[in-house]
Amino acid sequence: MNANIVLLPGDGIGPEIVKQAENVLIQIAKKFGHTFQFESHLIGGIAIDETGDPLPQATVDACKKSAAILLGAVGGPKWDDPAAKTRPEQGLLRIRKELQLFANLRPIQTFSELVDASPLKREIVDGTDILFFRELTGGVYFGESGRNTVDGVESAYASMVYSVPEVERIVRLAALAARQRDNRLTSVDKANVLEPSRLWRQTAQRVMSEEFPDVQYDVVLVDAMAMHLISRPRDYDVVVTGNLFGDILTDEASMLPGSLGMLPSASIGASGPGLYEPIHGSAPDIAGKGIANPLATILAAAMLLRHSLNLEEEAAAIEAAVRSVLADGLRTADIASGAPSIGTQAMGEAVLAKLG
Ligand code: NAD
Ligand code: IPM
Ligand code: MN
Repeated sequence: MNANIVLLPGDGIGPEIVKQAENVLIQIAKKFGHTFQFESHLIGGIAIDETGDPLPQATVDACKKSAAILLGAVGGPKWDDPAAKTRPEQGLLRIRKELQLFANLRPIQTFSELVDASPLKREIVDGTDILFFRELTGGVYFGESGRNTVDGVESAYASMVYSVPEVERIVRLAALAARQRDNRLTSVDKANVLEPSRLWRQTAQRVMSEEFPDVQYDVVLVDAMAMHLISRPRDYDVVVTGNLFGDILTDEASMLPGSLGMLPSASIGASGPGLYEPIHGSAPDIAGKGIANPLATILAAAMLLRHSLNLEEEAAAIEAAVRSVLADGLRTADIASGAPSIGTQAMGEAVLAKLG
């Protein structure tokens, strides 16, 4: 196979972890006889510094022409001034919207080799296997927002908006995924308070009863879900939820495997290239130190192979290599629980060695 892959390293630890994932993709190409062309482009804070725009047009054009995109992370204290005209994060939101990547798949799997890295008890987390579908191009992230000053009092607002088709398409994708797994779907909302959540709940209910009567379906309020996730995570199979709730619940869920540095994600639309990235951010507190965990990004590269290039065997080879490295006891600092650890590059090289 011949494929063009766009790399968007971004800010903070982004370049360090994307480098390791790129090496893994190069190794996969060699081993399985593919040709991957890599093109790096600007996004986020570094793009603001170099062009004034967190998502330059050249980046959008390259992404649209690519087979798939691998992103590191954007943002950092340098660009955090709340009064700034533009922010790194806008680049990420715009590329998601521009490519209509409405479904963000976030698998939460514990690795039995790593279960002691979790702050939770082994008997609670071991065997967890949840697939989150986070809606990614709607909700409060994209509703009307702004500021007002009335009688000298300043206020700010952001509206949460969901349309019926937006809910239908994400629920359908999640339900189809459930059929391929344990056939259970949970929809998470705040329908006791928020009008868009009531529309979400009605729509999801209808899609499920009309189109997926065979899939076991239930609904949970988001505040309760935050608790269930850490008290009985094994009860969940596929979870579908809105943009903001999905963002928060999946960072929380990273404590099941034990670190944000372990969780990959895939953002996909109805057609066109997908965007693959770790769920974590640019980790400014450890950027430049060579200690970031590259495994989330390496696992995101595996998702890229599976979902955008249809290379299941190659994706599984990466996942097996990661498990094997963990089974050998190799740990970056975030998953070492205080024991001796290795750096970003050494971890990347350990995965390469397993791929042979
Ligand atoms: P963060 O995810 O960057 O970091 C949270 C904590 O997790 C930090 O202590 C960090 O060191 C640790 N961590 C994250 N990834 C790690 C890894 N691979 N290995 C080891 N430790 C890791 O969240 P934050 O600090 O709240 O945000 C920092 C910046 O990142 C902000 O500007 C935010 O907007 C941005 N951000 C970007 C993305 C993205 O690009 N997709 C996602 C989340 C946050
Ligand atoms: C993520 C991040 C982004 C989000 C930010 C950086 C815009 O937290 O990818 O999870 O909230 O979607
Ligand atoms: Mn997030």
